[in-house]
Amino acid sequence: EKGGYASFMLKEIAEQPKAVADTLLGRIDGSGALTLDEVRIPANVLRETDKVVIVACGTAFHAGLIAKYAIEHWTRLPCEVELASEFRYRDPILDQQTLVIAVSQSGETMDTLMALRHAREQGAHVLAICNTNGSTIPRESDAVLYTHAGPEVAVASTKAFLTQLVACYLVALYLGQVRGTKWADEIRAVVRDLSSIAGAVERVLETMEPVRELARSLAGKDTVLFLGRHVGYPVALEGALKLKELAYMHAEGFAAGELKHGPIALVEDDLPVVVVAPSPRGRSVLHDKIVSNIQEIRARGARTIVIAEEGDEAVAPYADHLIRVPATPTLLQPLVATVPLQVFACELATARGNEVDQPRNLAKSVTVE
Ligand code: M6R
Repeated sequence: EKGGYASFMLKEIAEQPKAVADTLLGRIDGSGALTLDEVRIPANVLRETDKVVIVACGTAFHAGLIAKYAIEHWTRLPCEVELASEFRYRDPILDQQTLVIAVSQSGETMDTLMALRHAREQGAHVLAICNTNGSTIPRESDAVLYTHAGPEVAVASTKAFLTQLVACYLVALYLGQVRGTKWADEIRAVVRDLSSIAGAVERVLETMEPVRELARSLAGKDTVLFLGRHVGYPVALEGALKLKELAYMHAEGFAAGELKHGPIALVEDDLPVVVVAPSPRGRSVLHDKIVSNIQEIRARGARTIVIAEEGDEAVAPYADHLIRVPATPTLLQPLVATVPLQVFACELATARGNEVDQPRNLAKSVTVE
């Protein structure tokens, strides 16, 4: 069943290029337009939408955090992202003009289900992004966009996460297309970039041996920190979550700009800090800032592990370990930058003697609140 891999997790990491390509299949026509007929929410409802709210848990929540950047940029609609378990207890403001997106691999997560029930009671339209056909969350939603990751067996979500990102980008682009946006040209370009993203994920997978080696060398550490900015911030959170659940290590993700507001006090000699560097092209301000952050932590003794785009030479002098990923538009970078973090956590957990497919205390689908 594991197809020659030592674990389902390794198999599922390797399946990501196909999962990504399958999730795009049939959803973009020859002219580069989105054809999401399955999103049965009528176009006039989407045009009248004045707010998007994303609810999800765990890794799916991180996909939602990334989606916010894409939705707000391409559609200019305000977008909130909330942990499903917190959502209904704060009396959220919802009405018929709110589009709620519930993201769930299993489609059975009770917290997410309760959040979407609450949203529908308030009259909001609910779109599910889900990997499991016929599961409860899509059945109870107004519409569903399925991710085509195939069955995900390992408790740690990997390929489902990448396909959730793809589905979120598709929804963001579709909303932009339906509502009309000043970014029409950019949207067309992004659709083209999305079509080549599976190949980029494949290239990342081919270069993971040094990441595995590095992970093994850190098996005796107690803490790993993760830093990012913009969409790199949720990627950092996801890297930390993977390490917690698989390696049972203390791991935390921070927005790099927050360092000086507290977390930098944690940095001590030889502390491994993984930094997700944004592309130096486009939003170069972000890039300059991350270079300073890397310098700051290194000056305080951190061992810097930097995930950077191919050709980004500015970060190289400050990286003790450099992990290269192919160049992508900024918003799409999580699709390539997350993969080394999955491999890192899986290898580190294995080196610590942990069972990666069935981490302690965790279940694949959490059907209690
Ligand atoms: O099935 P769901 O996507 O709703 O599950 C949500 C979380 O329980 C899930 O992503 C969890 O955080 C994973 N174990 C993370 O790897």
